[in-house]
Amino acid sequence: MRTLKELDARGKRVLVRVDFNVPLKDGEVADDTRIRASLPTIEHLLNQNAAVVLMSHLGRPKGVDPKYRLRPVAFRLEELLRQPVHYVPFPPGSDEAYEAVQNFGPGTVTLLENVRFEPGETKNDPELARRYARLGEAFVLDAFGSAHREHASVVGVARLLPSYAGLLFEKEVRALSKLLSGYERPYAVVLGGAKVSDKIGVIKSLLKRADKLLVGGAMAFTFIKAKGGEVGDSLVEEDKLDLARELLAEAEALGKPLLLPVDVVAAPEIRPDAPREVVPADGIPKGLKGLDIGPETRERFKAALEGSKTVFWNGPMGVFEVPPFDEGTLAVARAIAGLEGAYTVVGGGDSVAAVNKLGLADAFSHVSTGGGASLEFLEKGTLPGIEVLGGLP
Ligand code: 3PG
Repeated sequence: MRTLKELDARGKRVLVRVDFNVPLKDGEVADDTRIRASLPTIEHLLNQNAAVVLMSHLGRPKGVDPKYRLRPVAFRLEELLRQPVHYVPFPPGSDEAYEAVQNFGPGTVTLLENVRFEPGETKNDPELARRYARLGEAFVLDAFGSAHREHASVVGVARLLPSYAGLLFEKEVRALSKLLSGYERPYAVVLGGAKVSDKIGVIKSLLKRADKLLVGGAMAFTFIKAKGGEVGDSLVEEDKLDLARELLAEAEALGKPLLLPVDVVAAPEIRPDAPREVVPADGIPKGLKGLDIGPETRERFKAALEGSKTVFWNGPMGVFEVPPFDEGTLAVARAIAGLEGAYTVVGGGDSVAAVNKLGLADAFSHVSTGGGASLEFLEKGTLPGIEVLGGLP
């Protein structure tokens, strides 16, 4: 993988794909973690007096959609960099964007409009990639969170310009690679979130490597039902029950414990003030949904994590966005952060939000900016964005 250190950016116009797909609230950036994460790359290029041209996606708009404009991101970036950011409200493939970029010289930062306003972006349209390539003399890929997307602004343009991994991208690849080889044992993996279907590949890959797998979140109900448990009105992927049985059998054949919740916090509906009760995870009465792991499960998960030397965590243990159903997720965050001398990695929006909410980011060895990208990397050992830069370092 070619990296930024190999690029002499002095006086050059450098096109940088970042992942500024951040949550917005009332027209402002609600969490700037991903913007901060790319500051080292942007500052490195500014120190070399490059003209920095940034492009990113935001959300999943179908064509131009005012809700997904990058203006609020430009404001936040300007505050963080303490220098003006030229926000160009035209999609990066347009002639208007090309012309605007010509006006900004060495030492400037420009942020172009959402790449997903371009119909050819997600199709990796070669003509669109050519239009992007006009915007710089070199290309830096710092959008690790998008490295699993074979899109024009990720892989298409990288094939047309001298291309390099940014500092964030490189750091992510190095940190996540340690979960695939050379890791210390015992090695525990904690997975949560709504769907088993999103995690099949990573479960299969990590079952081979890790010593145990802890499963929480709604995806646990698909496993519990597959084992014959009663899950009440909890979220279940009915069409994935066979698959869940297959994964349970695979774990058993490998002799790896796959821990499921033993108790859950259940309520009739997802509301902060809904009446809650703790019930057995495989005996949830009809009319109730399991919305968080229960106190006994939190203790068991904590005990199972103790002594681990490597831990990877992705996905919330419950409905994290609706407190008090965030407590199980926060308990897991605390348990992992408290492990001494362990290599601990967390990835994915809600799990990272839990770590940040507790101010525990520094207690983790690595907090990944990639959700889907980190899972796909752990499944396949590489990503389209890595391959286009020359493969793993
Ligand atoms: C993410 O938030 O995981 C990345 O920004 C990728 O977004 P996407 O799933 O819409 O491609």
